Amino acid sequence: SAIYLKDYTVPNFLIDKTELTFDLDETQTIVTSRLHLRRNPESKVQTSALVLDGGEDVKLIGVAIDEYALPEQEYTNKDDKLIITATPNEFVLTCETMIEPQNNTKLEGLYRSSSMFCTQCEAEGFRHITYYLDRPDVMSIFTTTIIGDESRYPVMLSNGNEIERGKTEEGKTFVTWHDPFKKPAYLFALVAGDLEVLNDNFTTMSGRDVKLQIFTEKHNIDKVDFAMDSLKRSMKWDEEVYGREYDLDIFMIVAVDDFNMGAMENKGLNIFNSSCLLASPETTTDDAYLRVEAVVAHEYFHNWSGNRVTCRDWFQLSLKEGFTVFRDQSFSADTHSDVVKRVEDVSFLKTAQFAEDAGPMSHPIRPASFIEISNFYTLTIYEKGAEVVRMIHTLLGEEGFRKGSDLYFERHDGQAVTCDDFVKAMEDANGVDLSQFKRWYSQAGTPRLTVTDSYDEQAQTYSLTIQQMTPPTPNQPTKLALHIPVKVGLVGQSNEALSFTFDGQTQDEVVLHVNDVEQTFVFENVMSKPVPSLLRGFSAPVKLDYDYSTEQLLQLMSGDPDGFNRWSASQQLAVNELNKLIEQYQNGAQFSEETPLVEGFKALLADESLDPAMVALILGLPSQAYMSELADKIDPQAIKAAREHLRGIAAKALEVEFKHVYESNAVSEAYQANAEQIAKRSLKNAALSYWVASGSDEAKAAVVRQYRNADNMTDQFAALSCVVHFNLAEADELLNAFFEQWKHEALVVNKWLMLSAAREQENGLEQVKALMEHPSFDIKNPNKLRSVIGGLGQNVDAFHNLDGSGYAFLADQIILLNKRNPQIASRLCTPLTRWQRMVPALAEKMKGELERIAREDLSKDVYEVVSKSLA
Ligand code: ARG
Ligand code: ZN
Repeated sequence: SAIYLKDYTVPNFLIDKTELTFDLDETQTIVTSRLHLRRNPESKVQTSALVLDGGEDVKLIGVAIDEYALPEQEYTNKDDKLIITATPNEFVLTCETMIEPQNNTKLEGLYRSSSMFCTQCEAEGFRHITYYLDRPDVMSIFTTTIIGDESRYPVMLSNGNEIERGKTEEGKTFVTWHDPFKKPAYLFALVAGDLEVLNDNFTTMSGRDVKLQIFTEKHNIDKVDFAMDSLKRSMKWDEEVYGREYDLDIFMIVAVDDFNMGAMENKGLNIFNSSCLLASPETTTDDAYLRVEAVVAHEYFHNWSGNRVTCRDWFQLSLKEGFTVFRDQSFSADTHSDVVKRVEDVSFLKTAQFAEDAGPMSHPIRPASFIEISNFYTLTIYEKGAEVVRMIHTLLGEEGFRKGSDLYFERHDGQAVTCDDFVKAMEDANGVDLSQFKRWYSQAGTPRLTVTDSYDEQAQTYSLTIQQMTPPTPNQPTKLALHIPVKVGLVGQSNEALSFTFDGQTQDEVVLHVNDVEQTFVFENVMSKPVPSLLRGFSAPVKLDYDYSTEQLLQLMSGDPDGFNRWSASQQLAVNELNKLIEQYQNGAQFSEETPLVEGFKALLADESLDPAMVALILGLPSQAYMSELADKIDPQAIKAAREHLRGIAAKALEVEFKHVYESNAVSEAYQANAEQIAKRSLKNAALSYWVASGSDEAKAAVVRQYRNADNMTDQFAALSCVVHFNLAEADELLNAFFEQWKHEALVVNKWLMLSAAREQENGLEQVKALMEHPSFDIKNPNKLRSVIGGLGQNVDAFHNLDGSGYAFLADQIILLNKRNPQIASRLCTPLTRWQRMVPALAEKMKGELERIAREDLSKDVYEVVSKSLA
């Protein structure tokens, strides 16, 4: 059953203090909680009945009020709720429960990962530890005592500062932690294990000394230097850009292998999926380095945007996630290249978030209802949420935005607030009205802008007419006009930036305020007929239709002063070319052997003044996933064939150029994950794959040589992927050698699993099944599962087999995991939720599998996604 934002009421009780004791044990862990409760003066419901959240996995041993043990008739314990019939106005509730972390396969609450104990409480995991008011607007001061066997658990951590340590009567060790900041239960964390630590420190802007610690299992401690460096740079950046200082004396991060998501911002004790923390040149690719840096920053930034100021309820999730993603994106942009970072983020958004917005799970960044909140940790909440914050930044400017964020943090420090409060602070600090803009928070779907133009040579005026339309989404048949900032520049015939008069001012770039269904904007003093450079920097998360000619796209690709739009133009050109080929494929026609893309690429490869990373991005053809998102009816085989063919044409036409670029972008210095080296490697490896695609024997020898000589994972894995993708004679040999070399490095094995599962060969699905039986596979580990199933998803032949076997296999895994790990099972459903977008033969097979899943006894997570997909 769904819960609704409109039904929000304040909690009936508050918990001023929470005292927890964990007696850790291999078979049963005893949790004793002492909750200092009182009625909420703000509550309209004056009731003495206290309703606490629990879980089927929590066994109640006993409950007492102010030391009076309650007899069974004074409480009820059913349907995961503990209800205490009558309570005083203010009291201490003591509750003793038993849990079995070793049997917790859902990885929510307290669970085991390898030899450690760890927690994940967001969003509603704390109720699987003990009975509580498990909602983010109940904020409490936590004191936590952990009792454990010192030989197994020499390290025992929780939030805040360690205040006491000693021995119990039975000779076990206890450690007590106290967190002076009040927080909701979702930010609670506990870790115990035999861990190694890297120590460091940071002096804050006001001169306070903070101890920094990163903990891992022993064999991984050599891979956290980069994370530590990223942490220190994040701390400094938040001081400089947002004026935000860290507030405790200690900041800890722990890496765990089994984790449903990327990482978690628990106060003073972040817990990370090891894939988002560990990095070394030999085992980690450049992409993964950048991800570590971004996730470390993201979780650190939550200390203010999320922890000091938190969410009133889970409908407000984007309040902290959208804002924090915007903050981590800005940090990465400042650290490396802003254009490259923007292209990467936008291309991800347009591929994955747009697809989500066009599917059955489409929701606004502030949903109006949900069945299971875990299903709403989505690209819409995170990535589109960040775009909405970015638009506010565009509307207010750097300084105005900072005034707004200062006011927001100052006004709401220590509170649990809403998205309205965030926007209100932005408005109040700047004296602006964002009421129409706020529709972005409640309206789902990707708006579409249709742009037409005309140039009056006589009057030297240029006008742009912009229409906006947001398509219907589930439960939202009609949409209102949004306030959309559209950044525009004009490019002249010989690639010069054309200035113009707009709003009485001469300028060469302007932000148009699109806020009606149709508007015309007139630019004056435009000396010649321009090519419009629209939506620069992707100033709004919308689809844009303007009927560019090939010549105009080629011109923008080489001449637009906005780097982002140079990439955009190249993508549009490639999309147009791919669409022609897709049509030819579907009509059984011959593929054309020529494309204007060759001319564009040639100019690009010859221009040595360009950032190699940008060149690499432009060379990257629109992905299978992006072309699917754009398609009316998705035909995976046609998209794949078109992409291979287009790459082949460019590869053959520019063989010499690719060879040259490959050779001239070698990095000779020792590996570093800095912008300059990453850029060179990305271009070098992009050129390599085209060169190999040309069929040249020299290229084939070069790629195998690169594999064997590589001293870093980026180059080694790029070469291996190329060998496997083009199915060179060495493919089997090198895949085996790779596994043998890295079988003791879990994160590298995951890459091997993914590449092996994605490998297109005749018996693709059999290969995937064999991987799931492989000794290195472990279904309990979400990373391994994501590798294999993710690899299968990329394997067009195996996954989209017309006989439906790929979909059936995925459905089998979903059914298997449905109860074991509902969060993961629900995420695996994503490709099937797109069934209505597929060509009819595939749509029918996908739908059949969804119906088969629907006949099972489903977890809330899977039920919500499957039932909405079939509705
Ligand atoms: N707040 C975390 C982050 O974005 C994500 C945790 C979500 N976990 C979950 N099980 N839904 O940084
Ligand atoms: Zn987050």
